Amino acid sequence: MLFELKGVSYARAGSLVLRDVEMTLPRGASCLAGPSGSGKSTVLRLLNRLADPDSGQVLYEGADVRGREVLGLRREVCLVPQLPALIDGSVAENVAFGAQLAGRSFDAERCLQLAGLDRSYGERDADRLSVGEQQRVMLARALALEPQVLLLDEPTSALDEVARSAVETTLTDLRKRLRISTVLVTHDLDQARRLASWVVRLDAGAVTEQGPVGAVLGEVGG
Ligand SMILES: Nc1ncnc2c1ncn2[C@@H]1O[C@H](COP(=O)(O)OP(=O)(O)O)[C@@H](O)[C@H]1O
Ligand SMILES: [Mg+2]
Repeated sequence: MLFELKGVSYARAGSLVLRDVEMTLPRGASCLAGPSGSGKSTVLRLLNRLADPDSGQVLYEGADVRGREVLGLRREVCLVPQLPALIDGSVAENVAFGAQLAGRSFDAERCLQLAGLDRSYGERDADRLSVGEQQRVMLARALALEPQVLLLDEPTSALDEVARSAVETTLTDLRKRLRISTVLVTHDLDQARRLASWVVRLDAGAVTEQGPVGAVLGEVGG
């Protein structure tokens, strides 16, 4: 099992955001689905220790994440946030951002290409890109860290349908080309069907269902 949450509770501002969550996420493409405010982003943050539970345990490859050196864990389990957060400068500088901080070498062109951007993007100003392109630069930045796991927080929520479809194709190709696992957050059940083989449904901080996507969500359009 890639991740397991055991009896995880997490409170913010006096109210429970996650209540006694039992969750398994296998290797491969999994998805957290649920309405806004159900705790999806919070779960992602627990997976690479951007937050720690108040009670319970988060296991990564069978071991408590609290036993891991936190920056090392975050390079291996890399979060792509919901909204692009680029630095001033070129696309190439943005792709280099995390890897340089970590003192790692990387192939910027390959990262751009894997994220669905051709090499001409490297020289472009990051703040002159569309939101869809910026989302891809965030993906390229994450890939420069050569993660084992990508945590994708609603990567298409700010995109129109054409851009959304293009990013979905990129994510599918990426999974085929690199042997990395993905945990995708979405409120769109059709997107869950398209992109994941395992799905966990959350509602009001509790898991309501989890299992293979066909068993939990049924067929497309169903
Ligand atoms: N830092 C915080 N302070 C107070 N409440 C928070 C904080 N972070 C999250 N919450 C609350 O926790 C709940 C779940 O948030 P979140 O995990 O972001 O949900 P989702 O990603 O499913 O929309 C929401 O009700 C949100 O208001
Ligand atoms: Mg969220």
